Amino acid sequence: MTEMDTIVSLAKRRGFVFQSSEIYGGLASTYDYGPLGIELKRNIRESWWNHYISQREDVVGIDSAILMAPSVWEASGHVQGFSDPLVECSNCNQRFRLDHLDNQEICPNPTCENQPLSAPRQFNLMFKTYLGPVEEVAAQTYLRPETAQGIFVNFQNVQTTTRKKIPFGIGQIGKSFRNEITVGNFLFRTREFEQMEMEFFVKPGTDEEWHDKWINYSLEWYDKLGISRDKIQVRAHDQDELSHYSKATSDIEYLFPWGWGELQGIANRTDFDLKAHTEHSGVRLDYFDQENNEHFTPYVIEPAVGVDRIFLTLLIDAYREEEINEGKEKRTLLKLAPQIAPVQIAILPLSRNEKLVPKAKEIFTLLNQSYSCEYDDAQSIGRRYRRQDEIGTPLCITVDFDTIEKDNQVTIRDRDSMEQIRVPVENLQDHIQNTLL
Ligand code: GAP
Repeated sequence: MTEMDTIVSLAKRRGFVFQSSEIYGGLASTYDYGPLGIELKRNIRESWWNHYISQREDVVGIDSAILMAPSVWEASGHVQGFSDPLVECSNCNQRFRLDHLDNQEICPNPTCENQPLSAPRQFNLMFKTYLGPVEEVAAQTYLRPETAQGIFVNFQNVQTTTRKKIPFGIGQIGKSFRNEITVGNFLFRTREFEQMEMEFFVKPGTDEEWHDKWINYSLEWYDKLGISRDKIQVRAHDQDELSHYSKATSDIEYLFPWGWGELQGIANRTDFDLKAHTEHSGVRLDYFDQENNEHFTPYVIEPAVGVDRIFLTLLIDAYREEEINEGKEKRTLLKLAPQIAPVQIAILPLSRNEKLVPKAKEIFTLLNQSYSCEYDDAQSIGRRYRRQDEIGTPLCITVDFDTIEKDNQVTIRDRDSMEQIRVPVENLQDHIQNTLL
């Protein structure tokens, strides 16, 4: 199995990610998140929201609608310019993105033996949809391809209601949709995905300094997620790669099994969007600087990242296979950071014995108020440890007969070192707080 197949298989086996519509044969590159997957996803969102919004006094959040007036997408340039170069092979009938083929107009399928591809045509990535029961052009709009526009069109609403002064930012998390020509690498590129975007409005002239600040601040978030720093790099876009709205973009990239890939783009969007919406809507989206008694259109620095891409990166980065018991056994583990792990503590009675179960459930009820806990009494303790390792649970607490009959102590097992220590039940919360935080 390749490294990616192993990750996909673990994700399914343990209930992180399922193929969407699986019982109907599945819908290509569309996924459902299972019970553990949704916990991990919620932790990613929460970590992002804390880092980019809650912990800063200069950023606020919103939650805008997925459906927007069609003129938004005309103003933003997406109707005209949000497209990729599509090429087709007349031999195998496959479609490709020309820029993903290093602009070589030859079919990459070995069986096609250097078959020339069709001339490239620009394919717009926005999904069209219709409002109301009649499918006519007047009622046509799009599923948003980025959450950012919901922020730009609300710039004035947010600025006046919060009385924020420049520089300040507006962030949001939500679904976006792109009819990608090529999808793949599991969750890396899909047609429905979730974005976490923040638009930071600054005075023109200070934009380059803020661009650097947001690149560095974003790098700190990867440390919080526990992603290996040696697999992360920052890459500035060449001029010919820049989006239609960008003056400069730097990607934070991760070394995936197939090579370096974008995790996050941090773009200097200039005043492109606010000016475009001012022009198209007739509503002035600018800022009045009281100190200097002047109006200006702010520039925008935008750190934008996908929840699903971070999810995949965490699974890949945390995945380990280790030999244990002097090479006689193998264990698989996810070395997820405790703050991100879907289950932080597993509470395991040694067996389903009637003396052990109530005590274990009592501990579960107590700890589950502060941590994400799982109670499990099925199968042997060894198998339960293996399962918890595989889903990335940092701590297992085992209740045994000594707990009940002798010392009121439990065994705490550490996922990474597999070390086991005895801790009195009354010291449990202090011990966990010191270990997990
Ligand atoms: N508002 C700017 C913007 O949307 P982008 O680089 O196109 O910029 C931002 O997207 C992030 O969204 C990407 O860095 C990636 O993490 C995620 N993303 C974009 N397209 C995606 C797709 N098809 N599948 C999964 N994630 C995607």
